[in-house]
Amino acid sequence: MSAFHWRCSATCGHARAGMLKTAHGDVPTPTFMPVGTAGTVKAMTMDSVRSTGAGIVLGNTYHLMLRPGADRVAALGGLHKMMDWPGPILTDSGGFQVMSLGALRKLDQDGVTFQSHIDGSKHRLTPEISTQIQHKLDATITMAFDECPALPATPENLRKSMELSMRWAARSREAFVQRDGYGQFGIVQGGTERDLREYSVRALADIGFEGYAIGGLAVGEGQALMFETLDYTAPLLPPDRARYLMGVGTPDDLLGAVERGVDMFDCVMPTRAGRTARAYTERGTLNLRNARHANDTRPLSPDCDCLACARHSRAYLHHLFRADEILGPMLLTWHNLAYYQRLMRTIRAAIIADDLPETARALRAGWASEDW
Ligand code: GUN
Ligand code: ZN
Repeated sequence: MSAFHWRCSATCGHARAGMLKTAHGDVPTPTFMPVGTAGTVKAMTMDSVRSTGAGIVLGNTYHLMLRPGADRVAALGGLHKMMDWPGPILTDSGGFQVMSLGALRKLDQDGVTFQSHIDGSKHRLTPEISTQIQHKLDATITMAFDECPALPATPENLRKSMELSMRWAARSREAFVQRDGYGQFGIVQGGTERDLREYSVRALADIGFEGYAIGGLAVGEGQALMFETLDYTAPLLPPDRARYLMGVGTPDDLLGAVERGVDMFDCVMPTRAGRTARAYTERGTLNLRNARHANDTRPLSPDCDCLACARHSRAYLHHLFRADEILGPMLLTWHNLAYYQRLMRTIRAAIIADDLPETARALRAGWASEDW
């Protein structure tokens, strides 16, 4: 087994195609990681996740430490064995979820104390505890423990928060145990302030990580500001390491971020949308609860090889959602994940063919066009 690394295979403008090499297998990038928060990609078996072409999935320290508990996951053979996913797993470090789930919490310089959203029990996360929990889960990629401030925030508060995250990043690195094929990513913070992002990148690169995430975006600033932030942040990151944009996004967000040099993504959008009857297609999104689908015998998308498209009509999917049948969310989650993976394969092939601008134009024209 060799060291964890990312290797660039081709570039097109700022966009990069590459390969992530890990202890649990290789992943072509750009890649989208389905979210498996609580040790399951909701409504999917892991065979069905695999069949969409996913190469790496995400888990959450916050949820798994509360239930079933990190020691129990370890006793069950680790997250890979527990959830039957032998491939790479990236775990988020917990701080973001403590904040975004609105749990009662108290932040100090050392870490954060919070109450479980499940039973109100009291817990603590620090850079050291988060890193140790991620090791117990057997995460292939461990994330540094950070604080993600809500936007808008004053530059002064953004600076204090970012500096805290950088001290926590150094402590996370100290607590990280190097193992062949495993890696740890630092997380750039600093909101939409250029000088703060520059400081944060320098601080993390000085510490040295196997990869770098861009955090603190897609928190209400809008796509234009997010892209502007990526425009000046991505080129500062070490060129030979993978770059991961956390919690993003729509197909159009992914395309724009790849064009700006991002390699990895995660988002609940395709899975959550699937459970609420929203389908992503080459021609934008559609809502399967809408009455116009009631007698439509066509598949969701003529170009999709997912189970929903291969075997079922829009009319049947419409019926399943109207009748509140579990199979509706299952089939639509499958389709949406298949769409996201197909999109990433299309983008990767276009980078390798040095043809991304043309492919991007065609993708955007499709999203803007009428349903079939
Ligand atoms: N998920 C989405 N954004 C963030 C972030 O800024 N930090 C962490 N840890 N997770 C995230
Ligand atoms: Zn499909």
